[in-house]
Amino acid sequence: MLERLTPQAPDALLALIKLYAADPRPDKIDLGVGVYRTGQGDTPIFAAVKQAEQRLLDEQDSKSYLGPEGDMGFVNALMPHVFGANATMRGRISGMQTPGGTGAVRLAVALAQRAGVEKLHLGKPSWPNHAQILNDIGLDIVWFEHARSDGTANLEAVLDTISGAGPNAAVLLHGACHNPTGIDYTPQQWDAIADALAESGAFPIIDLAYQGLGHGMEEDAYGMRRVLGAVPEAFVAYSCDKNFGVYRDRVGAFYAMVRESGDLDKVFSNANALARAAWSMPPDHGGAVARIVLRDPALTELWLDELTQMRERMRQVRERLGAAGIAGSVNLAPLAHQNGLFSTLPVTPEQVVQLREEHAIYMAGSGRINIAGLTAGNIDKFIGAVAAVTS
Ligand code: LMR
Repeated sequence: MLERLTPQAPDALLALIKLYAADPRPDKIDLGVGVYRTGQGDTPIFAAVKQAEQRLLDEQDSKSYLGPEGDMGFVNALMPHVFGANATMRGRISGMQTPGGTGAVRLAVALAQRAGVEKLHLGKPSWPNHAQILNDIGLDIVWFEHARSDGTANLEAVLDTISGAGPNAAVLLHGACHNPTGIDYTPQQWDAIADALAESGAFPIIDLAYQGLGHGMEEDAYGMRRVLGAVPEAFVAYSCDKNFGVYRDRVGAFYAMVRESGDLDKVFSNANALARAAWSMPPDHGGAVARIVLRDPALTELWLDELTQMRERMRQVRERLGAAGIAGSVNLAPLAHQNGLFSTLPVTPEQVVQLREEHAIYMAGSGRINIAGLTAGNIDKFIGAVAAVTS
């Protein structure tokens, strides 16, 4: 029976991790999967996380089950950072812990489907796993163009999409630090998007996987908060994997905002049932660690300082790339104004292979680069190599 299965290609992004590890060239550059790196090329554990882990080790007295919603102390402690300390809609929002942002996205779209959503509008390009998840649960994707060739967001495309979405349609938007382009909507564009969503009735699902990696915790939440302030109902899929640097611990949260707080029970009884069938309950460690950080003002301050350092280093790399201007046929200038870990270069798949084989530079086949993989020691080589393969 099993021989009937058709072999599947490995996930292209995750396959890069192994390819890179197997490359013996000492000057290789990893711009593949989205993990932050310091100027020395490391991905260290945050000091705030390390301290919280020590406390967890000392204080945790049981590993008995928590339930499908996971660590609600973590979920609730995160809320003021996500939705704002004084947000008026907070009483209509509740959440639950998920295995990473992927678990949150999966729960959001599965629950939307269960509530009657028949199709989902998604900007192209998007994080490749969005389409994989949607295909897996059998929800139709309708694509719109996310960006323009000058490296800015295509506002008209998203507004046209929202106004024409019709009933039983959801729109999935990246809250900040768009993956893979780094091209975010400006606050004014978010205002227009929020108004359009309020008018059309299309159901918003906001994927906020990089809060704090763009312009700041508050700034990166602007669009999501603006949308939630304008519409009656929405879902938010959240990841702490990047902003706490706990990638492999899989720390995420799913939040739902409902029209009337009385609907929260209905929504979360369904969300719990879906989670129970998919993963039963999320892994505990990372969420417990984030809870300890978020409940301790000193650890919270330390965490936010470390996040600021990450953000500022990525901003410096972006400025350096932007200042380089033209490299071969690639204009690097727009990268200075994009946000977060990623930008996408206008290179062909063949040029991506050439960069890997001839220059030991690893990036996604789409031309997406991880900005944090660049350092003072390798950025000139990178710019030179892009110029060489695209000239
Ligand atoms: C990425 O896009 O590199 C990250 O979000 C990691 C992942 O799970 O794909």
